[in-house]
Amino acid sequence: MILIPLIPDPVISCDFENVYTPSDDSYLLIDYFKGNINENQFDGINISEIENILDLGTGTGIIAILFQLIKVQYPNFNPKIYASDILKEAIECAKINEEANKINKEITFFHSDLFISFPERLKDSFNIIVFNPPYLPSSQLINQNYEKKIIDYSWDGGLKGYETLISFLENAKLFLNLKKDHSIYFITSSRTDLLELNEKIKNLSYKNKLVEKRHIFFEDIFLNKLQYKTH
Ligand SMILES: C[S@@+](CC[C@H](N)C(=O)[O-])C[C@H]1O[C@@H](n2cnc3c(N)ncnc32)[C@H](O)[C@@H]1O
Repeated sequence: MILIPLIPDPVISCDFENVYTPSDDSYLLIDYFKGNINENQFDGINISEIENILDLGTGTGIIAILFQLIKVQYPNFNPKIYASDILKEAIECAKINEEANKINKEITFFHSDLFISFPERLKDSFNIIVFNPPYLPSSQLINQNYEKKIIDYSWDGGLKGYETLISFLENAKLFLNLKKDHSIYFITSSRTDLLELNEKIKNLSYKNKLVEKRHIFFEDIFLNKLQYKTH
């Protein structure tokens, strides 16, 4: 009989009013990652080859912490985990949650707007990048004197909902290790124009695959997996 290790969900608390409380989109990622790892591979990539993983827009730290918990269950899976967020409060909150999950300051955190404050040495380094981005459009609000506040960083992806994601993808290829197998995982919503978004993704030379879908109230959310097409 083969015993499959049970990977626990991270224990998450968050008393910071501007930090995103993990929701269906966070758990779509969590459940997918938990279901697609074994002692040899992570979603098709040989786990011994995975050296660096980035959780961009980490919020409470839930995804970065999950990767640390997976490391406990699968000793062959031993990448360095990085996490970043545009909000200082999110980094503070994620560090508290890291400790609550009995992880001894192993995650490296960056306070950064996308990749702007990342050190040069991390270019060409990540095998896996995860971004559960702000993905909703703010276009309906512009006639209502909408001014972006800190809390809105969690959901406001730009007028069309995908502008933050596109800026991310424009830079992400510089930080991927393109010499090895690599993947970018991100969430999109049916409330954005997905045909238009997919065209833009194609023009940035990425190959996109839809790997999971979940229906929640008024929308569908999608988990996408990208590879950069090196010609
Ligand atoms: C939908 S929340 C996801 C949080 C967490 N990863 C999760 O799945 O629960 C989006 C996160 O992206 C962060 N964010 C938004 N714009 C960003 C940017 N330009 N650079 C870095 N992080 C950003 C927000 O502060 C927020 O923590």
